Amino acid sequence: MTGPALLEIENLSVRYGAISAVRGASLRVEKGEIVSLLGANGAGKSSLVNAAVGIVPAAGGRICFEGRDITRAPAETVVARGMTLSPEGRRVFADLTVRENLLLGAALMRDRARVQADIETYFEMFPILGARQQQLAKTLSGGEQQMLAIARALMSHPRLLMLDEPSLGLAPRIVDGIFDLMVRLRDAGLTILVVEQNASEALGIADRAYIMTTGAVVYEGRAADLIGSTDLMDAYLGSGVS
Ligand SMILES: Nc1ncnc2c1ncn2[C@@H]1O[C@H](COP(=O)(O)OP(=O)(O)OP(=O)(O)O)[C@@H](O)[C@H]1O
Ligand SMILES: [Mg+2]
Repeated sequence: MTGPALLEIENLSVRYGAISAVRGASLRVEKGEIVSLLGANGAGKSSLVNAAVGIVPAAGGRICFEGRDITRAPAETVVARGMTLSPEGRRVFADLTVRENLLLGAALMRDRARVQADIETYFEMFPILGARQQQLAKTLSGGEQQMLAIARALMSHPRLLMLDEPSLGLAPRIVDGIFDLMVRLRDAGLTILVVEQNASEALGIADRAYIMTTGAVVYEGRAADLIGSTDLMDAYLGSGVS
């Protein structure tokens, strides 16, 4: 391995008052990978990615992006450096149109012509968003809102895209489309960290995986090793997922 990892999280802890949500977790993402972060409800996955982008503060540890310490950087700075998060729960701006949501995703981009070109690119990628561009985001279906959340995250031209449960609550066909998109984006040079409950599907597209249990990383390895081992899958992710 040469040079610093794209994202390097060392010994991170996140607390909410008395609750210790992340306890000394370490994780790295190398350029060009899809890394999946798995674990049961409440394991601390969202807390980890939210801390990485500066939405929640790190109580301890270090977060570096391309070798630069961003542990205490505000979310806006993190986005400007090249890392974005599509947060859990398809957070779109409900009372803004599809197009306005995308424009907000590009708020830090100076080149307005390029922003318009990007919007057209994502309307080609997600034709339904193009057809709905003047519609308020709250009137989109769940799957359409997820597409919008992903497209909005892409509008800032991240080098690292983090997706928190992109498949949650979506029909299998839409889920397949979102996983296919992740592979296409990775093949086009984007690096992706994806938090998922849908372990088998996430492992199917990932290069490497991390599993969290009660705030700690308990497994780190190649996705293929994990998916190929019923013992590991059972031990860390419960039966019935493979
Ligand atoms: N804002 C908050 N205030 C207090 N406790 C919180 C807050 N956010 C999360 N927690 C707690 O921190 C722990 C980790 O939550 P987190 O959302 O990071 O888990 P998760 O792995 O993303 O779970 P899920 O798969 O259900 O989304 C949980 O016990 C949760 O109740
Ligand atoms: Mg979560």
